[in-house]
Amino acid sequence: MAKKSNVNNEDLEKIVSFAKRKGFVFPSSDIYGGLAGFYDFGPLGVAMKNNIKKSWWKKMVQTRNDVVGLDSAIIMNPRVWEASLHTENFTDPLAECKECHKRFRADHLEDQSQCPECKGELIPPRQFNLMLKTFIGPVEDEASRAYLRPETAQGIFINYKNIIDTQRVKIPFGIAQIGKSFRNEITPGNFIFRTREFEQMEMEYFVKPGEDEKAFDYWVEERMKWYLEDLGIRKEKLRIRKHEKKELAHYAKTCVDVEYDFPGMGWAEIEGIASRTDFDLRQHQKFSGQDLSYYNNETKEKFLPFVIEPSAGVERAMLALLCDAYQEIEGGRTQTTEQTKETEILLKLNKKIAPIQIAVLPLVKNKEEIREKAESIYCLLKNYFFCQYDEAGTIGRRYRRQDESGTPFALTVDFDTLKTEDVTVRDRDTMEQERIKIDKLVEYFKNKFEND
Ligand code: GAP
Repeated sequence: MAKKSNVNNEDLEKIVSFAKRKGFVFPSSDIYGGLAGFYDFGPLGVAMKNNIKKSWWKKMVQTRNDVVGLDSAIIMNPRVWEASLHTENFTDPLAECKECHKRFRADHLEDQSQCPECKGELIPPRQFNLMLKTFIGPVEDEASRAYLRPETAQGIFINYKNIIDTQRVKIPFGIAQIGKSFRNEITPGNFIFRTREFEQMEMEYFVKPGEDEKAFDYWVEERMKWYLEDLGIRKEKLRIRKHEKKELAHYAKTCVDVEYDFPGMGWAEIEGIASRTDFDLRQHQKFSGQDLSYYNNETKEKFLPFVIEPSAGVERAMLALLCDAYQEIEGGRTQTTEQTKETEILLKLNKKIAPIQIAVLPLVKNKEEIREKAESIYCLLKNYFFCQYDEAGTIGRRYRRQDESGTPFALTVDFDTLKTEDVTVRDRDTMEQERIKIDKLVEYFKNKFEND
């Protein structure tokens, strides 16, 4: 019996090299030696990220009648960051070694007086602002200074009035956005867990003051459901952790983290759900001079709404999914094709998240009719699904390659296909095979991806 194992207790390094080898994630600027805190996403990585975002958007916007979408600019008027207090408060304590000049997050150190690398003396920590800066226009001076957004949330708050004025929204309602954020992290690390450029999926949910606690509990539950049911992450690897008072961000009344139990890292945040009160709207009202209050036509009440914010990272969800899905099978799992003694990798990703949905494989490549048939099936299916055509190597090797990529279905065109107009469809997880008529394939796969 083959021995199966996940990466639970092993180093994250295994996932890092696997992700590079398969084309999920590459270090950015790789041929120049990389750039700390930046990554590029290869063919499988970009497809997987798109699927994660699509799933979030479907859950948070498309299937709801109380949430609308937004795509705001990355660079905003710098007054936005003064109002939100990011210029003042969005800092981490930076400690520097007097001897080797290495820099550390002081709050991540056990001993804040001694360098963990060379044991030299540390300069007492100073507050370091994490916003990345740039200049707008040809003159690079204080007046032209701007920031790359460190969260997408502020883009939502400054559009709150536009949404109220142009859409027929009624409290409670939400505004959702997915987009890049940037933070000049002092110590980026743990692969794509902490980077300087990343994507956030955020939603600000506006409620009547006093109804915030109920809404907060509702959203914590909803968000957990997304990780468990829509992404299919194992229950025992997820937990909710409530922030202690001293951990709370400057805007938060209450906050919980959704945490995943990562290999090599342990429990770490993949999403924060915060109760932000009316802090942001009040600040923007003050700094912009615009009335941002909500007027309820029916009750004639006027108030500044309170806000509940679920804020997730695309890359952290991706890393959790890769760690969760990765399995090594000692001695191999292939039964019907050539037997192997090698350890095989199976990436048991949720069907809706898997980067390649269907692999199209001609059984042999030197028989022209089989190749042509396979190519025509590939041309048909790629209009509906993300497919990969592969004719290189033995069929067993090709199945293994697709198992490693997490492809849920592999379809084989063989000699019988030419007579009977059907193909073999192999299920990644059960390795069971079914014969399906070519003219029924689109419907068959639509059912598999939509309903299962
Ligand atoms: N608007 C609230 C906010 O930005 P946060 O807890 O600082 O809250 C939310 O960030 C999420 O964004 C995190 O749970 C994480 O998934 C992601 N995130 C934050 N900093 C990150 C970084 N340096 N690299 C990758 N993802 C990050």
